[in-house]
This record gives sequence, structure tokens and C-alpha cells, in this order.
Amino acid sequence: MRVLGIETSCDETGVAIYDEQQGLIANQLYTQIALHADYGGVVPELASRDHIRKTAPLIQAALKEANLTPAEIDGVAYTAGPGLVGALLVGATIGRTLAYGWNVPAIAVHHMEGHLLAPMLDENRPHFPFIALLVSGGHTQLVRVDGLSQYDVIGESIDDAAGEAFDKTAKLLGLDYPGGAALSRLAENGTPDRFIFPRPMTDRPGLDFSFSGLKTAAANAVNSALKMEPTLTEQTKADIACEFQAAVIDTLVLKCKRALKQTGYQRLVVAGGVSANKALRQALAELMHDLHGEVFYPPPQFCTDNGAMIAYAGLLRLKQGQHNDLSIHVKPRWPMADLGAI
Ligand code: KG4
Ligand code: ZN
Repeated sequence: MRVLGIETSCDETGVAIYDEQQGLIANQLYTQIALHADYGGVVPELASRDHIRKTAPLIQAALKEANLTPAEIDGVAYTAGPGLVGALLVGATIGRTLAYGWNVPAIAVHHMEGHLLAPMLDENRPHFPFIALLVSGGHTQLVRVDGLSQYDVIGESIDDAAGEAFDKTAKLLGLDYPGGAALSRLAENGTPDRFIFPRPMTDRPGLDFSFSGLKTAAANAVNSALKMEPTLTEQTKADIACEFQAAVIDTLVLKCKRALKQTGYQRLVVAGGVSANKALRQALAELMHDLHGEVFYPPPQFCTDNGAMIAYAGLLRLKQGQHNDLSIHVKPRWPMADLGAI
């Protein structure tokens, strides 16, 4: 079976083709980052309009890359949520319509299931069961994964997602949106412990997260530094970035450790945009070394949003005979608990 996957939930247009035998045979991605940069964040209406411009050409490019005609596609998968409603509608409408025209089944894919399964695009695939730490711009979740579609969300952020906190703090430090990766580069030159931020919700039991206080801690650090220096020096910015990143990482690592101990699982999967963070990877490698366990990541280009993870998740469901009817539905909010079994 060969599936075309379409991802348009936020600010990346991703189109890919996954072949059951050959694996990933086409992967096209267009990022809207430059489009939204001037606004300091994603402008939903601009995102939708740009997906309209880019999706069809990227589908043509993916078919060309794989040297296929539409008649050789056996199913279409599209992200149906969670995400921005207008952006989702573009991919869902194009995906559902193409499937109708090509007379193949269409399947609505959950964006976070796509992220969760993205490590399966690597050669070194994790076996079930495992704990998944999903850390993206919109979500921070710990999921107990006992098998395909057997997901139990055992912890999540009660306010900002980890990536969102990275982006807001980066903005405070004058970095362009989305500033997560730039903040982590800045942090490399920082002096540890010049500033001290809290490790939110680590002093009480449970697996939930809260990151909005860290943004406030960073804002307070900026204000106190501004009393000593007229404009923030590069060193002060790096010191704030360093402590912010350390606070996020310490918190994520502690909750992962708790989740692994609580379940007795020895495998950890980390996915979503923030899983690209080098310092986080180093800290988790140390944790898993201490616990005699293993940690898995998606290949680097599939940590952030992409069509490959949607094509792959869609293929697994289509193979089981699942498909959606002719109506076009998107779910801007879609709890993982509502996902049907594969
Ligand atoms: O998974 P993703 O592409 O989109 C969502 O589904 O939200 O994640 C994007 C997020 C952004 O917040 C971005 O700043 C963050 O991932 N990110 C990083 C790094 N690379 C991307 N955060 C920290 N360190 C990084 N190296
Ligand atoms: Zn995502």
C-alpha cells in the first residue's frame, strides 16, 4: 500500500508518500516561518491562505519525486486536528477531494499520533510498550503507549506548551519567531546559575507540567538586568536563555523519570519540535543511561511538522480498513483519548 500524507495544521505545509514496502519515497516541505516572522507568531488567516497556495504544487512535486502517477496512490491521509481550524480545513479539503477523485480511501490523522509515530520512520524503531514525551509548540504530553493506538495520556501541560514557552521567552530576548532553536543556541554561551528560575510542579507528585511561570521568571530576570544595564548585553541574554532552558529540561527529565518508574517501562520516545533540542537530548541520554533504558527520537527532519509522519500514521489505519466518509471534518481540539483503535 502507498499513501499520500498531507500536513497543514499550523505553519508548515508537508506532503509525503509512504510505501509499505519501500518506506518513505517522497517528502516535500514548505515552511511559512518567514511569512509570520514580522508578526512574532503564526497569523492563522495568513497560514490558511499560504497552505492553499502551496499544497497542490507540493503534491505534484511529491508524485514527481517518487516517479508516480495518481493512479499508483492507494490512499490519502490528512491531518484533521488538533491545530488551526482554517489551516486544517485546507489540507482536509484537498486530501478528501483528491481521494474522491482518485477513487481511493481517505483517512483523518491526529497530528500528535503522527508525532508519536515519527520515530518509526527511523531504522532503529522502538518496540512497544514505551513512554512518549511529546514536546511541540502546541502540546506537552507524557503518553503511556502500550501498542498502536493504545494511548493513555498520563501527564500534560496545564498552561503553555514547552515549545510555546521557548518561543515566548525567545521573543522576550529579541529573537525571531519561532525562537526555540535560536534560544538554545544562545544558551550555549550562557553562565549557569547567574539567574535562578523555578522547576515548576516538580515539588509535588504527578506528571503534569506548567511552563507559563517560567516565562514570567524570564521577564522578571530581564527587568532586573535592565536596572543594571541600559540595554541587555548579549551575555545577559545568554545567561537568561541558559537558565530558562535548564529549568525546562530539568522539569521534563524529572517527569520522564517519574513516568518510567511509575510504569516500570524502560523505553522512552521523544518527539515534536522541542525534541530537536541538543541539551534536552543530552540530559535524557544521561537519564536513560542511569535507568539502563533506551531513548528514541524521530530522524531530525521529522522532529518538527512534516507530511511523512501523517502518511505513515494514515497507512497504519488504512491498512486496517479504516477510512473516513465523504464529509470533511476537522477537529481543532481533539483529545488523544478520543482516538479510535487501529
Ligand atoms: O512540532 P512542531 O514543529 O510544531 C507543533 O506541532 O507545534 O514544534 C515547533 C516548536 C516551536 O515552539 C519551536 O520553537 C520548537 O518546536 N523547537 C525547539 C527547537 N527546535 C524547534 N525548541 C527548543 N529547542 C530546539 N532546538
Ligand atoms: Zn507538530
